[in-house]
Amino acid sequence: MLRVITVKQALRASSQLAATRNPEACSYVQQIASEWETAKPFKEIPGPTRWQLFRGFQKGGQYHQLEMNEVMRLHKQQFGDISLVPGLFGMPSTVVLFNEESFERVYRTEGQWPIRGGSEPVIHYRSNRKDKFFKDCIGLFSNGVDWGKQRSAVNPVLMQHRNVAVYLKPMQRVNHQFVQHIREIRDQESKEVPGDFLNSVKQLTFESVATVALDKELGLLRETNQPPKARKLFKNIEVLMESFFVLGVRPSIYKYISTPTYRKFSQAMDELFDTCSTYVNEAIDRIEKKSAQGNSKDYKSVLEQLLQVDRKFATVMAMDMLIGGVDTTTSAISGLLLNLAKNPEKQQRLREEVLSKLPSLDRDFTMEDLKSLPYLRAFIKESMRVYPVTFANVRSAGTDIVLDGYRIPRGTHLIMTNSFLLNDERIYPRANEFIPERWLRQKDVKEDSSDVLMNKNTSSFIYLPFGFGPRLCVGKRIVDLELELTLSNLVRNFKIEYKHPIENPFKCTFIFMPRIPLNFKFTDLKY
Ligand code: HEM
Repeated sequence: MLRVITVKQALRASSQLAATRNPEACSYVQQIASEWETAKPFKEIPGPTRWQLFRGFQKGGQYHQLEMNEVMRLHKQQFGDISLVPGLFGMPSTVVLFNEESFERVYRTEGQWPIRGGSEPVIHYRSNRKDKFFKDCIGLFSNGVDWGKQRSAVNPVLMQHRNVAVYLKPMQRVNHQFVQHIREIRDQESKEVPGDFLNSVKQLTFESVATVALDKELGLLRETNQPPKARKLFKNIEVLMESFFVLGVRPSIYKYISTPTYRKFSQAMDELFDTCSTYVNEAIDRIEKKSAQGNSKDYKSVLEQLLQVDRKFATVMAMDMLIGGVDTTTSAISGLLLNLAKNPEKQQRLREEVLSKLPSLDRDFTMEDLKSLPYLRAFIKESMRVYPVTFANVRSAGTDIVLDGYRIPRGTHLIMTNSFLLNDERIYPRANEFIPERWLRQKDVKEDSSDVLMNKNTSSFIYLPFGFGPRLCVGKRIVDLELELTLSNLVRNFKIEYKHPIENPFKCTFIFMPRIPLNFKFTDLKY
């Protein structure tokens, strides 16, 4: 109880502080506050009743077997730009938002320590571990002051450009292994990789995140002799993510009685914890040995810098990076591959840009090279528009706020379904087409190109693949590097095709994951 009051007080203080520091924010908050009196009451927000919701998910009901985004689409059709989903079985009631003006209001009033729900299973596990390991360090999936302290400690390490450059070489090594892996697993006649290629993409993203989080290549992209410890860690992340989704979005009594899904989740968390602790300890030994031999480098790896805060912090951050970084990046790379295959002309334009910087396969990218590849960046941006990674972003209202004409009390759970607007013709003309050119700056548009600058997006609160504000994805810099390297290495090595139907290729488990087999055809390019 004491803790809840403290966080509430802190939150109030933080929004007041933010408002007094920034006059623009202050007038924005005042403008919204002035609407409160005349706004409609919270209880009038349209939406299904508890019974309609419960009944809807049963066999024969309107939501039965629908994916989360389809349920929300139905709500938009039935109730308009705002609806209230009543909480069932211990889940909080949630307001679902569909327009960018509401997103902007939520983000601009979220305060210094924005609250993001949906991570309760992680928080519950960490708060209830018998050894109290996480007592003062619950990680980045927590909220309030605890989150604020940890985020302030990790930002200078993970969000710094200089630190990311340290990973250029190790990530390129992982990328070369991936290219080699494709050559090994593809059918030598048809050049198609097996349908379960998603697993290989996951291994790539897992290796790349581990390179940063654990300062180590785990060897998962090897065809043989994959270390059992690494295989186990990989498997645990898979189990953990599956059960995390189920516990996070479906009604469950796991907080009161340990359900089979929660047991699966907590066992995977236990093993993730054990393995990450072992790897972190190994890294400490390596680092100590090196410095005893006088081999310490002039730069410090992310793990070394996190260890300077303390060992516990480094272990928790390693776990959070693995939880946050594998499925998301896998989804993004799957989308990139599909867009490459569906758009051979765009693929060729991208290849030409990459080869103009690096004509020879023997040479690797430098940070300087990556800076001057505008089409590569535009390609990635457009790919995450066409195939977004996450369905929505989540917040609790940071203050009393009026949204779409209704009063929303502070602390109300909110889902901002920005992925629906990403293919809205009013915002992105020719929205169903893949046009990286819409993201190019005028100076980079080819003069003879028939593509005009098409990005008419007037609100900066729609295209937010990495979220917004102080809670922006902490892995963003790492992902940028990883996606740029992966995409450019793939197009300079292969022509990429997909010879099978591509219809509705992603399923929505909050993160969009491919539902179709990813048996791409990778043909070697001859230089
Ligand atoms: C394409 C890949 C990725 C996408 C699209 C993505 C997207 C996101 C989004 C939307 C959020 C929530 C932001 C908000 O609440 O405003 C988030 C948070 C987070 N991401 Fe990522 N992410 C990606 C990759 C990564 C990677 C590689 C890592 C780790 C190295 C990572 C670690 C995290 C963590 C720890 C958080 C929680 C941060 C916090 O609340 O302080 N993510 N990500």
